[in-house]
Amino acid sequence: MTTPVLKISHLPRFFGSIRAVHDVSFDVTPGELKALIGPNGAGKSTCFNMLMGQISPSSGTVELNGKPITGLPPRDIWRRGVGRTFQITGTYQSMTVAENVQMALISHHRRLFSMLPDTHRLYREEAVALLDVVGMADQADRACAILAYGDLKRLELAIALAHAPTLLLMD
Ligand SMILES: Nc1ncnc2c1ncn2[C@@H]1O[C@H](COP(=O)(O)OP(=O)(O)OP(=O)(O)O)[C@@H](O)[C@H]1O
Ligand SMILES: [Mg+2]
Repeated sequence: MTTPVLKISHLPRFFGSIRAVHDVSFDVTPGELKALIGPNGAGKSTCFNMLMGQISPSSGTVELNGKPITGLPPRDIWRRGVGRTFQITGTYQSMTVAENVQMALISHHRRLFSMLPDTHRLYREEAVALLDVVGMADQADRACAILAYGDLKRLELAIALAHAPTLLLMD
């Protein structure tokens, strides 16, 4: 049997006495697209936050490719090939659209601490290619601060893809 990319077993999460997530279990197999649906407050974002390490589950386990990742910080889970987008978008507002993706590529290639005079050109072509994938190439040099929410979501997707994730979580 194929090992699931993601396997979550019996995840609950309490906030004080509020039970935000009851008892969630599911697998995601390679190539599978799975959707979480539910009304406002159902616990979808809380579930994503438990998978990606932003918050810890009250109990239960999360496995990535058969290895436990429960309780690891987000950066470690990201390094293991998980990407995500957020319900409330988080981008560098003072940078352009392309620069935001370049930052993600620089981080992916572990060059965050490169002090090069031409950093602003680093991965520029790759960034524009990713923006093309999400239909944003024509907005590459726009300031991020003036983007509409729908475009921010597309930009976040390009940022997530910059890491070439094996599992992508989209809230
Ligand atoms: N940090 C927190 N502290 C306390 N309660 C929280 C916290 N985060 C979420 N909750 C509560 O947990 C429940 C689930 O919230 P969550 O944001 O996961 O729902 P959702 O399904 O993503 O909703 P939406 O469709 O509005 O995005 C809600 O009752 C919410 O108020
Ligand atoms: Mg939500």
